[in-house]
Amino acid sequence: TSILILNGPNLNLLGTRQPEVYGSTTLSDIEAQCNAVAAELGIGLSFAQSNAEGALVDRIHDARGTHDGLILNAGAYTHTSIALMDAISSTEIPTIELHLSNIHAREDFRHTSYIARVAVGVICGFGAHGYTLALHAMARHLKAAT
Ligand code: DQA
Repeated sequence: TSILILNGPNLNLLGTRQPEVYGSTTLSDIEAQCNAVAAELGIGLSFAQSNAEGALVDRIHDARGTHDGLILNAGAYTHTSIALMDAISSTEIPTIELHLSNIHAREDFRHTSYIARVAVGVICGFGAHGYTLALHAMARHLKAAT
């Protein structure tokens, strides 16, 4: 079993970006935590980030045949990107939508998600801890599916 964790725009700035909203854990701290949990679960893990919508679409295409599940924090593209939604539908890769913040407790424009329409489930509001929650959830989902 192999899982791809994909991060969208501005998440490279985690740690210093609005720490009151997103916490002070950096993306490389999160990657290290995820690697530890993946090792515990005995699953393969790839971890990536891009600020570019097309590059994220390409990563999702590349996941077909190489990864069994996708955990996607698409950042602001969550609320705008039909292209990312279509990439998930087209590749049929089981996807968990993830956010550090509780998007439903924030501005109205964050309440809409194109990703949620094609996701197995959504995790939001648990900060950096959400990443390892999502890994456990995906591992269990993939196990149930086989
Ligand atoms: C985010 C929530 C989005 O609304 C925002 O645009 C982000 C981060 C989160 O992880 O809480 O960039 O995806």
